Formats: sequence, structure tokens, C-alpha cells
Amino acid sequence: MGNRKEPGSLFFFEPDLYQTLRDSITMLPIEMKKKIVDKIAHAESPREQAIDVMTEMQNYYGYMSDEAMVEAGELLGMTPLELEELATFYNFIYRQPVGKYVIHICDSTVCWMNGYESLLDYLCSLLNVELGGTSSDGLFTLLPVCCLGYCDHAPAMIINREIYGELTPEKIERIIGKLRDRAYSAEKGIGE
Ligand code: FES
Repeated sequence: MGNRKEPGSLFFFEPDLYQTLRDSITMLPIEMKKKIVDKIAHAESPREQAIDVMTEMQNYYGYMSDEAMVEAGELLGMTPLELEELATFYNFIYRQPVGKYVIHICDSTVCWMNGYESLLDYLCSLLNVELGGTSSDGLFTLLPVCCLGYCDHAPAMIINREIYGELTPEKIERIIGKLRDRAYSAEKGIGE
């Protein structure tokens, strides 16, 4: 995004881009918006709700596009830059499109010592992606994450908020297979 301003400026976007983004906001469904506005109204400060609001919007939009960040900022009374700073520190807000399932594999010390590198290689070849990439079927995005607090079950990963530990290639293959079947069933309307 060449028109983005450097961190430290008041707005994350140049004013003309900011206005364009405001004008092109994809509106949330009215009921969802009401719920979010109500939640913000009951918070001590809008900032404390920012991650929840972005998460909720992300669940709807799929990821937090620039337009979605501007929309979130409007609802929270925060600048896109303020939101961007929070999103940067929170691994589970996605600023780029991601797959249906986002795999965060832990690369911190205990997982590292328990086979992180070989499991990462295995996942990359199983999904045919690089770290940071999304599989060609759009189902899986593979990202690193720091310690998940699941060290006694290392090596660990989390997929769409479900945590998996004591990973082995066989276990990973089973998990991925199950998620693929689930996505396939959902697509065919068989139910998840
Ligand atoms: S180091 Fe991986 S869960 Fe703690």
C-alpha cells in the first residue's frame, strides 16, 4: 500500500485515500452493527473493545481490509493508525486475506526444541505453501505464532482458536484431513 503513511502520523492513510476508504466502506449488517455499537457504549473506553470489535468484523468480512479498519475506527472513535497499532500486536487480526482455516504454528523455544522445524517443513509440503502463504484451494493459511502457553504439550499449533499439542506428522495429517472433509461437507451443504 504505497499510499500508507509512516507509523507515527496521525492517520494510517493519506487523507485522500482515507476519504476513498470511508466512501467505499462495506457496511455491516444492521443487527451486527447495533450489537457492536451497544457493546462499545457499555465499555469504559472504546479502546478496550477494539480487539473484540475487529475480531467480530473479521469473522464477517474474512479479514480486516483497509476499508474494514476505517469502518472499525468510525465505530470506535479511533483513528486507523491507533487500530493498526493494536492489530500489529495481536496475531489473530488479519490485514490480508486468509484461508478458511488459519494455522498458527508455535515457533517459541519449547516447541522449537521439540521439533518445530521438521513439523513446519511437513506442513509446508502437505499444504504446498510457504510460511505466510495460503493453499491454492484457499482453505489453509500457515502463520507463525509465539508461545501459546501450551508448552507442556509442545510442539503446538492453533487453528481457528482450537489448540492442538503433542504434534507429529501423522497427527497433523489427520487434523488437516478432517478440516478438509469438514470444508468439503460444508460446501456440499452436508453440514459441518
Ligand atoms: S513454546 Fe510453544 S506453546 Fe509454549
